[in-house]
Amino acid sequence: MTRIGVAGLGYWGPNLARNFDTLAELAWICDQSPERLAELSARFPGATATQSFEEMLGDDALDAVVISTPVPTHYELAKQALEAGKHVLVEKPPAMRAAEMDELVALAADRDLVLMPGHLLLYHPGVQKLKELIAGGELGEVRVIYGNRQNLGIVRTNENALWSLGVHDLSVILYLLDEDPDVVTAQGRGFVTPGVEDVVFCYLQFPSGKIAHMHLSWLDPHKMRRMTVVGSEKMAVFDDMEAERKVTVYEKRAEADGAHTGDIHSPKIPSTEPLRIECEHFLRLVAGEGDRRKVATDGAMVVRALQRLTDSLDGG
Ligand SMILES: NC(=O)c1ccc[n+]([C@@H]2O[C@H](COP(=O)([O-])OP(=O)(O)OC[C@H]3O[C@@H](n4cnc5c(N)ncnc54)[C@H](O)[C@@H]3O)[C@@H](O)[C@H]2O)c1
Repeated sequence: MTRIGVAGLGYWGPNLARNFDTLAELAWICDQSPERLAELSARFPGATATQSFEEMLGDDALDAVVISTPVPTHYELAKQALEAGKHVLVEKPPAMRAAEMDELVALAADRDLVLMPGHLLLYHPGVQKLKELIAGGELGEVRVIYGNRQNLGIVRTNENALWSLGVHDLSVILYLLDEDPDVVTAQGRGFVTPGVEDVVFCYLQFPSGKIAHMHLSWLDPHKMRRMTVVGSEKMAVFDDMEAERKVTVYEKRAEADGAHTGDIHSPKIPSTEPLRIECEHFLRLVAGEGDRRKVATDGAMVVRALQRLTDSLDGG
């Protein structure tokens, strides 16, 4: 059974630990905070607890490390883990700069190790359904994709809406289109904390001619978590605020001769926890199934676009 160590047991890490405790062997838990360790040791008594990431990496029988620490620490910790010969699942984004991510991707390829970013939404059955609809040609040629991720609060003061909210939608847009954008622009403003954008609008254009947009905000009357795909034949919407109708397919299209409308239907979407599917996917890659390079290079595409959006936002 794959032996896993989870580092970073704040808000999110315990969810990863819980899943790996049932799907694999949770061998280590690691957090700098003794209080967090004590609390989590009581919950996972079978795992060895340590405050030292290095001590955990020193276990030769440990197969893989899961990193759920704050974003600025991801690159260094992932690098250390790969250098120690461990497969890595690292929370998003694995690095803050494209050059750092490229270094991690090269390191993983060199050692034939898994480097998987924790892009949770990609494992959501609703997003999987969108991918299926696009790949199967049901929507025709994709023309436009846009994401809405808006809410009132939580107002963050050290991370803007692009980094806090946008990484999710960006990963989904790039996954659905599987193409590197050639035009990337972002504009936004910080109203609550000067310099920390609460509202961000992003525009992406792809070599194939497809375009995408993201509206990211925690200053909004609507609570929206929605991805809309406009195809030449049909349109589809993934709405994570819907309890049952997560995905809706509209037989709607517009041509020069006008609009054409037909049926609207909602395919059944399994209610499996996306995090469980993400963890299972990681374990399959570690076991040698599937394409372990692709998750890493897809992750690099996200970091690259994120950096360009950040540069555009700063420049604006
Ligand atoms: N996929 C998702 O939906 C989702 C949701 C929430 C958070 N996250 C991601 O999870 C990560 C953690 O977020 P969080 O909200 O749990 O943060 P958090 O601040 O609540 O927890 C981080 C923990 O890491 C520990 N830590 C910091 N540096 C460490 C080190 N060098 N070694 C060991 N432990 C260390 C801290 O003591 C803390 O307990 C972030 O990357 C965040 O983006 C993902």
